[in-house]
Amino acid sequence: MSIDKMDSSLLRKKISESVQLKNWIGKLDFITDLEVKEALEQRVQDKQNFLGEGGAGIVFRIDNKCIKLMRNRHNNQDAHLYNLGNHPKVEAEIQHKLKDFEVRSVSVPKIYNQYHDDYGAAIVMEELDAVNLQLVLNNQEQLPDNFDLKEAFDELDEFIYIMNTQEGVAHNDLAPRNLMIDKKTGKFKVIDFGRSIVKSDNNSKTFQKAIDDDAEKVEEAQSKLEAYLAKN
Ligand SMILES: Nc1ncnc2c1ncn2[C@@H]1O[C@H](COP(=O)(O)OP(=O)(O)OP(=O)(O)O)[C@@H](O)[C@H]1O
Ligand SMILES: [Mg+2]
Repeated sequence: MSIDKMDSSLLRKKISESVQLKNWIGKLDFITDLEVKEALEQRVQDKQNFLGEGGAGIVFRIDNKCIKLMRNRHNNQDAHLYNLGNHPKVEAEIQHKLKDFEVRSVSVPKIYNQYHDDYGAAIVMEELDAVNLQLVLNNQEQLPDNFDLKEAFDELDEFIYIMNTQEGVAHNDLAPRNLMIDKKTGKFKVIDFGRSIVKSDNNSKTFQKAIDDDAEKVEEAQSKLEAYLAKN
């Protein structure tokens, strides 16, 4: 279950369970860079290094970077029964394609490396000093003081438009949980390319549907945040 579907006590419980990270101990061999693997083995057990979790991944701080750990469920026998989204390799490729992409101060965490095997996958990326929009809406994190709603959503709309038209990428999961707000600048950061689609010659309908769905989700996110601001 993802964070927008659970109440805060459940979320806290889930976090405290997952910071144990027992499932990952001894199973990080797919991380072929020993320095990264060792850093992670040391850091995962300290809940201070826990940055967030979604349906697919769990994100940890390692030194001045962060790492999104995912079980590679694409090789499971029942994989076809679920909509698993992108293979972690594809997610990493799309994020890499956007690593220098910035429109009106809106950007994507820079990816540094990725690892994967049949068991697991990991994306090493820039750690954002940012709040998650869903956690703001849940009253679990504070909106940065310099956040300007109208300006931020105008910028986000332009970012999305140029990402769609010039980069040929549709995010396809632009719910509040995948939008972060930088604590210093108050600007949006777009995360989680686990369902994103790259435009090709034979996917124009799917690509357009993803664009339309994202437009709806962003509008909904804006309305939710307006309602939140009216109350707080
Ligand atoms: N680069 C980053 N810096 C800081 N925190 C991050 C970063 N990337 C992700 N997070 C935090 O970790 C959480 C989980 O990351 P992400 O959304 O990529 O995982 P997911 O499992 O693919 O999510 P979903 O449920 O949307 O599929 C995010 O909601 C965010 O709060
Ligand atoms: Mg997410």
